[in-house]
Amino acid sequence: MAYISASVYTSHVPAIGAALDQGKTEEPYWQPLFKGYEFSKQWMQEAKPDVIILVYNDHATAFSLQMIPTFAIGTAAEFRPADEGWGPRPVPMVQGHPELASHIAQSVILQDFDLTIVNEMDVDHGLTVPLSLMCGQPEAWPCPVIPFAVNVVQYPVPRGQRCFQLGQAIRRALDEYDEDLNVQIWGTGGMTHQLQGPRAGLINKQWDSNFLDKLIDDPESVAAIPHIEYVREAGSEGIELVMWLIARGAMSDVAGGAKPRVRHRFYHVPASNTAVGHLILENAH
Ligand code: DHB
Ligand code: FE
Repeated sequence: MAYISASVYTSHVPAIGAALDQGKTEEPYWQPLFKGYEFSKQWMQEAKPDVIILVYNDHATAFSLQMIPTFAIGTAAEFRPADEGWGPRPVPMVQGHPELASHIAQSVILQDFDLTIVNEMDVDHGLTVPLSLMCGQPEAWPCPVIPFAVNVVQYPVPRGQRCFQLGQAIRRALDEYDEDLNVQIWGTGGMTHQLQGPRAGLINKQWDSNFLDKLIDDPESVAAIPHIEYVREAGSEGIELVMWLIARGAMSDVAGGAKPRVRHRFYHVPASNTAVGHLILENAH
């Protein structure tokens, strides 16, 4: 069967991608940020996942107000890095895993989660920046990636509780898969940030720190956080953090297994308008 070996959580700020692509990682503004991911790149080389399920949000790139899927799974064989206005990022094509993605769609839909099946789409910074942070600048990404898009842009967006339950459903789907696969699940976006209005630039370190503590030790309490708290305390774009609950819900302890091991924790302000948070949790097996 396929199994989740680890979950990874990271912000996806587009300016991080631009800094990497333009060779600015050693500049004083960016150096401390990239230093926080040195361990992670090393860890990725040792972890050698067969597939990554990458939970992210599309930022009006592949989707728009014309069509707003709440949860969408990419079942294609490959996904192109999107042109977000400055040309596509100079990063490798993303290879998909159509067999596992189709299996997850089948299993999760029959567990009553309505997924939109996407056979063709481009992927934006929400997906490519986490890959760059974790893998650096390789010729090809280290393994196939299943894009799993969540609407956190246009209300109504899904509740944290439902995202947490969806993660559990994804874990059950992997349990039923025939092939032995080492799967990682990544939750991306966040942490506190607000990009517009009078509170633009809002950062809430105390709230972020508590979110990370609780995500590790008491994910049920994080799943119970209502939308209004994210918006008030973490800023309008802090709502992206509900996506982390999909990854956390897929970990073994939520299904009665052992607590995950914290391999890495990092927090840094600022990156553009955003507080950057990052965690690596490994399942015991
Ligand atoms: C920024 C952060 C985001 O999550 C995003 O999607 C776009 C911009 C920022 O901080 O600039
Ligand atoms: Fe974003």
